[in-house]
Amino acid sequence: MENFQFYSPTEFVFGIDTECETGRYVKKHGGTKLLLHYGSGSAVKSGLIERIKDSLHKNNISYTELPGVQPNPRDTLVYKGIEICKKENIDFILAVGGGSVIDSAKAIAIGALYDGDFWDFYGTGKVVEKALPVGTVLTIAAAGSEGSGDTVITKENGSLKRSVGSDLLRPKFSVLNPMLTCTLPSYQTACGATDIMAHVFERYFTNTSEVEITDRLCEAVLLTMIKETPRVIKNPDNYDARSNIMWAGTVAHNNIIGVGRCQDWSSHCIEHELSALYDCAHGAGLAVIMPAWMEFVYKHNLLRFAQAAVRIWGCQMNFENPAETALEGICRFRHFLHDIGMPINFSELGAKAEDIPKLVEKLGIGNGRIGGFESLSAEDITEIYKIAAQAEL
Ligand code: NZQ
Ligand code: ZN
Repeated sequence: MENFQFYSPTEFVFGIDTECETGRYVKKHGGTKLLLHYGSGSAVKSGLIERIKDSLHKNNISYTELPGVQPNPRDTLVYKGIEICKKENIDFILAVGGGSVIDSAKAIAIGALYDGDFWDFYGTGKVVEKALPVGTVLTIAAAGSEGSGDTVITKENGSLKRSVGSDLLRPKFSVLNPMLTCTLPSYQTACGATDIMAHVFERYFTNTSEVEITDRLCEAVLLTMIKETPRVIKNPDNYDARSNIMWAGTVAHNNIIGVGRCQDWSSHCIEHELSALYDCAHGAGLAVIMPAWMEFVYKHNLLRFAQAAVRIWGCQMNFENPAETALEGICRFRHFLHDIGMPINFSELGAKAEDIPKLVEKLGIGNGRIGGFESLSAEDITEIYKIAAQAEL
């Protein structure tokens, strides 16, 4: 195991009706003048925003609203949020929604205390030194942004999707009521489940040896997702399954299962170009990319892929031919994704094979390489897109 430092200061408030306590948590974490940030309709329609406003009134917290965050959140709304924060002296941002709303809130939090353009930090390595505090009320188990220090924003001009991470961006508190996720369309539930599983696989495939504890934690999260996702797809109101998935989504990405080991993350980079260009759901893009990435890299550590096949997908180990076991595991992953309603190739996603050169160019790695497990060149990434384009069951 490698040396590590792990800082996860977020207070998680989990369970039924917890959103009615939101005002109390804003107050506890020092918020007095709030930006109330949310999405394009679901949180208003479900009555969630009204319940949160009631809780804010009860705690004498004033707020300015900024609705309208789209999936794959845009820089244009971030600029509006920054302007409001500066003009109104906002001291706390409350994000009510999924990863897109939370990421938009984090971007506003950076820009509100910065004199230049908030975009300076995205994809550049520039270090965030200050940010307004953010709290969240989560409505979809997926991106893990409720516990992570990351934000991913799309620049409308040029469709560039880029990210920045800092412990300063980890939410002060996150309210997790699994009941709030029962209104999700099954496609969004499945996209979220795929993203959660991808966050684990990005960490599971590592070059670090002797990491039994985090290997086993990763496997626990994946086995939970394999059991619970079909249950909620079949019965969206299953509170117990929703609860397990919601907490799995948080632990999959607050990095407790990723400490002390090198991680990969090339599938995420490769996917982000798909959701930037086609505006598809991030989880759906991952369903197409991640098995293709696995097929391209599995020989890099055959035994680790065979281990995943046995421990996660229940395959029989073929000691004579471990490659067969490894490939069977990847095949079961793709079948699982298909069974929960995810696309498995470009045409099902709405992507086009002729765009592959453009996707690779937009990724912008030039002669560089990405990936902490297997280091990939632009040519390798082209191959992965090609496998993803043509994948079949
Ligand atoms: O806007 P509304 O009307 O709320 O609709 C949303 C949206 O259309 C809907 N939805 C959310 N909760 C709902 C609901 N509909 C009914 N009932 C509910 N309870 O679901 C749709 C998707 O929401 P979104 O926030 O986009 O989903 P997700 O949480 O998957 O976030 C995706 C974004 O997060 C980024 C992705 O790249 C993508 O931009 N990521 C952020 C990460 C991070 N900050 O740590 C890590 C991830 O790897 C990921 O890259
Ligand atoms: Zn993700």
